Amino acid sequence: MKGEDGLDLIFDIHDVAYSYLPGYPVLTDINLSIHQGEGLAILGANGSGKSTLLKMLCGLIHPDAGRIYAFGQEVTEDALRDLVFQQDFRQRVGFVFQNSDAQLFSATVWDELAFAPLQAGLTKEEVKQRVEDTADLVGIRNLLDRAPYKLSGGEKKKVALACVLSVNPEVLFLDEPTNGLDPRTQFWLVEFLKALQKAGKTVIMATHDLSIVEELAQRVIIFRENHTIATDGATLQVLSNRDLLLEVNLIHERFHFHAGDNWQHRQQCIG
Ligand SMILES: Nc1ncnc2c1ncn2[C@@H]1O[C@H](COP(=O)(O)OP(=O)(O)OP(=O)(O)O)[C@@H](O)[C@H]1O
Ligand SMILES: [Mg+2]
Repeated sequence: MKGEDGLDLIFDIHDVAYSYLPGYPVLTDINLSIHQGEGLAILGANGSGKSTLLKMLCGLIHPDAGRIYAFGQEVTEDALRDLVFQQDFRQRVGFVFQNSDAQLFSATVWDELAFAPLQAGLTKEEVKQRVEDTADLVGIRNLLDRAPYKLSGGEKKKVALACVLSVNPEVLFLDEPTNGLDPRTQFWLVEFLKALQKAGKTVIMATHDLSIVEELAQRVIIFRENHTIATDGATLQVLSNRDLLLEVNLIHERFHFHAGDNWQHRQQCIG
């Protein structure tokens, strides 16, 4: 399905509203189109609705009002009851949660990485190959026999990322991907995600880390604290709007952020 601009439209969101508890809206009046290959960052203050929107795009929760289309089909609770639709959808999107503990449940990292390929119907031999390849890709082969719950926060994050990559999804949703990662790992992750984008993957992330936004996102959406979208535009243009960033509580008067120079500075620090 093509959008008005001729690009492949993979998500189309119309007038979406959502609340976990009646009377406390968390998403209000959300309209959004996302195209294949886009690097999109979702920004906003704590509690503004970023993680909720990602969960909804992944089909983990469903709107109270409005519609969500993915890959040309409406995503609803009913549609996901159809196992063929569900399996297709789950293979096309991957979600790295903000909290890795909510994502990891197996006895070993090996089992964790094997889970999605097994669900996708790969043979035992193919699964073994996929686990080893993905572990090498993310640099966690040394963790394969470990229990996920005993890993450090950053190690868990890498395992969660590897799990998602193990089925080679078209769209990657990342919730606060750099949180808790040391500088070398953050740098590795950014380069890795850039390479995925070059290979045509769509990368959609929620983050507070403005420096990675400049590196990875061509487009930025900012939530207001009232859970509506304040702006949707080109990254440098949005991040240069200091008044807006102050208004939506993304920067503080005493925080010296300048669009365009943060990541270079970090690269210099890493050497
Ligand atoms: N399972 C839940 N039940 C009830 N309320 C929830 C639930 N999950 C989130 N909320 C509430 O919904 C609002 C939006 O939460 P969400 O996690 O989407 O925010 P966020 O923008 O991702 O914030 P952060 O920057 O802190 O990660 C918050 O007020 C939060 O307390
Ligand atoms: Mg969040």
